[in-house]
Amino acid sequence: MKNPTLPEHLDTEEELPMVVPRSKTRPSVAMTEATRAILQDAEIPHLSEQEMIERIQHLRQQRNAIILAHNYQLPIIQDLADFVGDSLQLSQQAAQTDAQVIAFCGVHFMAETAAILCPDKTVLIPDLEAGCSLAATVTAEEVRRWKAQHPNGVVVAYVNTNADVKAEADYCCTSSNAIKVVQAIPEDKEILFLPDMFLGLYVQRMTRRKLHLWMGECHVHAGIRPEDIIGTLNEHPEADLLMHPECGCVSQCMYALAEGDLPAERTFIYGTGGMVKHVRQSPAPVHLIATEVGMLHRLQKEAPHKRFIPVKADAICEYMKTITLPKLYRSLRDMVYEVRVPEEIAVRARRAIERMVEIV
Ligand code: 13P
Ligand code: SF4
Repeated sequence: MKNPTLPEHLDTEEELPMVVPRSKTRPSVAMTEATRAILQDAEIPHLSEQEMIERIQHLRQQRNAIILAHNYQLPIIQDLADFVGDSLQLSQQAAQTDAQVIAFCGVHFMAETAAILCPDKTVLIPDLEAGCSLAATVTAEEVRRWKAQHPNGVVVAYVNTNADVKAEADYCCTSSNAIKVVQAIPEDKEILFLPDMFLGLYVQRMTRRKLHLWMGECHVHAGIRPEDIIGTLNEHPEADLLMHPECGCVSQCMYALAEGDLPAERTFIYGTGGMVKHVRQSPAPVHLIATEVGMLHRLQKEAPHKRFIPVKADAICEYMKTITLPKLYRSLRDMVYEVRVPEEIAVRARRAIERMVEIV
């Protein structure tokens, strides 16, 4: 059967761009304001895990709150959440909920997206410093300058961007719908795709459209190399291989596929939501996972009888992991930190998100 996540023609002809990833500064999340507040709190350091869980359950009822968690969150947070999903599913859940408070266990741009879609709800993030190295690679001012160089360009912004960057975009997209969004744009239009260059290269191959790419990358996925993939696959030749399109090795893996060094019938490129769907229906007993390792807990719960092996066990997003049980409790107890997006930015960012939703 045809593998829909790979290009129709695998070839080794397309030249890889000589990419120099945009350098990033990554603020440390080792001691955030929220971490400090927990250490100094009069109550929290004395509570057991079970006591915190009980208090969270009580507060969630009292405040009419819903807990949303991304697939990379710590197991204890995923287990407590009302809904666990990918970035698109989390925005859809936020938009649909009747709850008055959304405790968003994910990173800041995701909570901002929820705040943009639900201006009448209170969106909380347990640690305001849960950022994203990829979103940090591009500012709104840089997008404005890029657009000035391509006045007829259509800007497609991956959801991993700050709200003011989304406000500069014509369309938003996520890893699960980037191909469809690009395909919906008329062929004669120039497309400026930002900020993830690896996702952009993959979309370029799948759609056979030439895109202008922003040279941003996520430090976690950029660190997953072809040798990690090939080494793990050699140890488990019977396994399905699931790779996130942000991975730094996707382009090289296309070459390995064309050369027959990777099995085309068992290699799949998916966002985190696509990975969940895949393991529900694939007969493979073993899956090799090329993304952030929080995904393994999510997949193991979906398919407890299957085996999931990370291709890189230290692919850990420290921003995602800065959300902890004590911080979630404090967030609901003290109603911190509220994520708000100024209305003039939210209006424009919402337009780009809604255009995406109309397509998928
Ligand atoms: P998904 O949209 O696939 O959940 O990915 C979000 C993300 O941050 C990947 O690193
Ligand atoms: Fe951002 Fe990468 Fe973390 Fe995803 S894994 S939230 S892209 S830093």
